[in-house]
Amino acid sequence: MSTSSPKSVHRRRLLQVGAAGLVLASGGVYAGTRLLSDSPTAAGDGTARAATSQTAPSGRVVTRELRAAPTTVDLGGRSVETWAYDDAVPGKEIRVTAGDELRVRLTNDLPVDTTIHWHGIALPQEMDGVPGLNQDPVAPGSTFDYSFVVPDPGTYWFHPHVGVQLDTGLQAPLIVEDLAEPGDYDEEVVLVLDDWTDGWSDSPDTILERMAREGMDMGGMSMGEMEGMEGMDHGGMSMDDAMPSPQAPLGADSGDVIYPGHVVNGRLATNPFVINSAPGRRIRLRLINSGGDTAYRFAVGDHRITVTHTDGFPVEPVEVDTLIIGMGERYDVVITTGDGVFPIVAAPEGKDAAPGRALLRTGSGATPDPTALPTEMSGQMLTYSALAPTAEVAFETRQPDRELDVVLEMIDGGRKWFINGAGFGDHDPLQISAGERVRLNLRNESMMFHPMHIHGHTFALAGQNGTGIRKDTVNVLPMETVSVDLQADNPGDWAVHCHNIYHAELGMQTVLSYAP
Ligand code: C2O
Ligand code: CU
Repeated sequence: MSTSSPKSVHRRRLLQVGAAGLVLASGGVYAGTRLLSDSPTAAGDGTARAATSQTAPSGRVVTRELRAAPTTVDLGGRSVETWAYDDAVPGKEIRVTAGDELRVRLTNDLPVDTTIHWHGIALPQEMDGVPGLNQDPVAPGSTFDYSFVVPDPGTYWFHPHVGVQLDTGLQAPLIVEDLAEPGDYDEEVVLVLDDWTDGWSDSPDTILERMAREGMDMGGMSMGEMEGMEGMDHGGMSMDDAMPSPQAPLGADSGDVIYPGHVVNGRLATNPFVINSAPGRRIRLRLINSGGDTAYRFAVGDHRITVTHTDGFPVEPVEVDTLIIGMGERYDVVITTGDGVFPIVAAPEGKDAAPGRALLRTGSGATPDPTALPTEMSGQMLTYSALAPTAEVAFETRQPDRELDVVLEMIDGGRKWFINGAGFGDHDPLQISAGERVRLNLRNESMMFHPMHIHGHTFALAGQNGTGIRKDTVNVLPMETVSVDLQADNPGDWAVHCHNIYHAELGMQTVLSYAP
């Protein structure tokens, strides 16, 4: 504790206030709707905001009921049987303001256990949704009440943390508004990018079983064979060929699951989600990759995009033509609309498949071909190193108190994926202590990229642009090491895993554990 920065002391004080607020609030009943009357907004009061942009509890309570159940949904001309929250894919967004308490009663009408993980939210660990680590699984026919103060504004989402349920329709946005944000845009739209197989081709469980049995041989070339080659040419493909290149920024194999459909807001490109607007408007797009095994290359035809947030946290704005968003990542971008009809495209990176897309309609014009890829997609691409955090969310400079290696490996030709030599369950937790600045060296010793996600914390990408952009999920490219720094200010046991849901289920998970 003696090593705590003034910043974390300040935040701890705010959290204590939060805990007191919770006790008071829990004496009441579920109000059913958002309560705005309780108190003046604390978030608008500059003194109540910590420098890390953690917001003091507002006293407001937002309640929701969510029912996870089998259902049939229409992906825009293709009807599929799947699992979803309240029969919608993606589920209806939850929208709160930073500092609000969110109370969600989950009813499990699935035939199996489930939970909800609130991806990216720094919440108390009992609410984090990892069965066996943070809570008991929610059994079929039962309910679970989630309740927590949402501390940071931004674009988040939620999904189950049981098996490969995230690759069904069980997923929805969680948008946390910031009362203190200037809001330099006219309107905003949430776009959920997703790869679809459930109820159409193989089920996620079937895919997982096959991967556990056959590894990556299922998709054609075997990375297992390739890793033995040590850069030697072998049947026309070498390890060098598999490494990231300008044509394949994530490496030659960025995903092994063949999805029959890619959807934006639950709709296929042939019958897309449409944004109706007018020319000259600034539209904030909140992009969420909820895919199981697909990174997306994103672009808007005839538009540049200005990146303003990574995983919910603000960055100094940067304008690009295109970006790649890994599974679990979010970007907020702003576009200034032209006049006409424009494709908003999410192309599955490194996969030969029809892209997902939405449409932007601000005037007259023909609807572009559903498979057309905007030229922006081969234009200037965003890199993490081009981004810097804004001053409010940058960590203060500090030497790490502790450095831990997190080594990512493929085992047995992709039948298993390990962290530090073990699969989840056999893992040694990553031990840290409250108050420390911790550096994790995410060392990828495999030939696939891994979008690595840490629960309960938003880390900073170390070694670039000051203390680094804030994120909770970061793409670690083949054979690359990415170092991330986090402030150990949320005691508990926290999942750390690859957000390729198949890698995670085949072992690529561990636990970040605070000493008692
Ligand atoms: Cu969105 Cu543990 O994941
Ligand atoms: Cu992975």
